[in-house]
Amino acid sequence: MTLLNVEGLAVDTRGGHSLVRDFAIEVAPGEVVGIVGESGSGKTMTALSLLGLLPEGVSVVSGEASLAGMPFLRDGRVLRRPNATMIFQNPTAALNPTMRIGAQLDRLLAFLGKKGRGRAEELLESVGIGEPRAVMGRHPHQLSGGMNQRVVIAMAIAAEPSLLIADEPTTGLDVTVQAQILELIRSTVATREIGVLFVSHDMGVIAQMCRRVAVMYQGEVREFADVDDIFHAPGDSYTKELLASAAEQPRKVGDGTRTG
Ligand SMILES: Nc1ncnc2c1ncn2[C@@H]1O[C@H](COP(=O)(O)OP(=O)(O)O)[C@@H](O)[C@H]1O
Ligand SMILES: [Mg+2]
Repeated sequence: MTLLNVEGLAVDTRGGHSLVRDFAIEVAPGEVVGIVGESGSGKTMTALSLLGLLPEGVSVVSGEASLAGMPFLRDGRVLRRPNATMIFQNPTAALNPTMRIGAQLDRLLAFLGKKGRGRAEELLESVGIGEPRAVMGRHPHQLSGGMNQRVVIAMAIAAEPSLLIADEPTTGLDVTVQAQILELIRSTVATREIGVLFVSHDMGVIAQMCRRVAVMYQGEVREFADVDDIFHAPGDSYTKELLASAAEQPRKVGDGTRTG
């Protein structure tokens, strides 16, 4: 069964410059599918286009997409907003700097019609925050990047989306915290059966998170295959280069503890 299905997606600037061409992907429920590629290859524009969040002057010009069998993009036209949420690279910037975490969560839950006693605390606990009341009393700048990313993930799952799009969610975090956040995303997906589109420039991170990955280069998918197959026998010359550059920066992740 397919949860997310995208075909023939193209994104252009108003000036007619092509940023993404003929993009296609499939995500099953509970599956994490990767999009990997160097900076500027069109990963973020692809992600934003699916949520109708493209910047001014950039738009979808063709493509079909559906989520859980419900079309939300047809002939390049947005039919509706899919039941999907997104997390970004810089969690601190995604939060309101002037409001305490608790107030931001309350506002979101009220907007979603899910406000209730203890709901915000429950949400924070579900993303591994051990002292939710203390965190709720803080402003984003008083918390670490890893803690803020947990809060952002809590906000992203508050809406009970069927798809989560994670765009370089650990890129600004140090290696231990990165491992914790990756584990949190993995466990969240497994318990909630949501699909994830996981965007990264880092093949090492992709290999930890995904079975299948789309390799993007200059706005196009060069290869959509199992990560294992890509590592053992990359079918595309660009993929080979990407693997070679990942091998030059070895790092150990995946053994983080579940604190902080
Ligand atoms: N607001 C914008 N208007 C026009 N072009 C943009 C805009 N933002 C990014 N781009 C261009 O779109 C291309 C793809 O960018 P992006 O999707 O952000 O790449 P990635 O996420 O893979 O690093 C790049 O060439 C970038 O310069
Ligand atoms: Mg990007």
